[in-house]
Amino acid sequence: MTIRLPHLIDVHVHLREPGAIYKEDWESGTQAALAGGIGTVLAMPNTQPAIVSAESLDDSLAAANKKAFCDYGQYIGGGQTNSQSAAKLAEQAAGLKLYLDQTYGDLKLDEIHTWMPHFENWPKAAPFVVHAEGKTMGTAILLAAIYERPLHICHVSKKEEILLIRAAKERGLPVTCEVCPHHLFLCEDDISEIGAGRSEVRPRLAKATDKDALWENIDVIDCFASDHAPHTIEEKDSENPPPGYPGLETMLPLLLTAVNQGRLTLEDITLRLHENPQRIFGTAEQAESFVEVEMDSSYEIRAVEQFTRCNWTPFEGWQVKGRVRRVVIRGQAAFEDGKVLAKPGFGRNIREKE
Ligand code: NCD
Ligand code: ZN
Ligand code: ZN
Ligand code: ZN
Repeated sequence: MTIRLPHLIDVHVHLREPGAIYKEDWESGTQAALAGGIGTVLAMPNTQPAIVSAESLDDSLAAANKKAFCDYGQYIGGGQTNSQSAAKLAEQAAGLKLYLDQTYGDLKLDEIHTWMPHFENWPKAAPFVVHAEGKTMGTAILLAAIYERPLHICHVSKKEEILLIRAAKERGLPVTCEVCPHHLFLCEDDISEIGAGRSEVRPRLAKATDKDALWENIDVIDCFASDHAPHTIEEKDSENPPPGYPGLETMLPLLLTAVNQGRLTLEDITLRLHENPQRIFGTAEQAESFVEVEMDSSYEIRAVEQFTRCNWTPFEGWQVKGRVRRVVIRGQAAFEDGKVLAKPGFGRNIREKE
């Protein structure tokens, strides 16, 4: 049975350009997106160098303009001193990203008083997203309340976090959040199977009870996002494995498998990969843009068949039911039956005015 889903948006990906294009770049990353049924990717700013200025934002958007196979946006990172200059770029950026806990890259802001100018200066109508876990998340929500500004929380992974967000929402605070497939389908118990180095990811794989809490509170989850964070298999198997999993090509098949198992509905997916991302991130509805999936088609996930450059997946060997058949963007088939049909540069910047 072939089913048509609307244009799907992944609001959290890392494409590694500039600085580490051996892991991924705008070409490989946006091809991976299409293969995963995703029509728009919002790229994170923790590149090398990081995207924290007008110049670096322009450079990234120029690279994407030439290379992207699907639609895209580029976040700007919040640093120690750029809250005012960043705010001036709000219309060009996908949003502002603050790194408030330790993770990959050098954008972490330690002291709360360095977060405050960003909460104050970034325009309220523009997306504002944070990597903030546990008690850090509590502080970020407090600041959203103090500054009366919308806040989107990345990759929620724990019971205490999803329950805190539920309580904040019930209180009417302007908080939204995303959850990644790896926190819905994996937990600590899977580390021995995946291997210690490859399992490294931030937020870490949590307890089975945390995973269960995400499913029990699915109504609190606004978006699904891959947090596609490719590092090569050699890096993951090295002495010092960087945290992060590829996810663009496995997110939708895993979610469709959950639909086939009766754990989710197709509406759950379109709400969290289309309607809510569109509303929270202010992206326009694209005419004649959709995805076709084959609900009855089963296959085994294999890294060798993926477009990502990182050459591995934590879901290697998993049996999924639900295959991406075709991605149509603005009336053109960009991906069909395993092949990318779009040309580099076909993708459009979500912030570009017509
Ligand atoms: C991300 C990366 O590699 O850029 N890693 C990760 O483990 N998720 C950074 C991040 O999203 O925190
Ligand atoms: Zn993060
Ligand atoms: Zn990330
Ligand atoms: Zn729509």
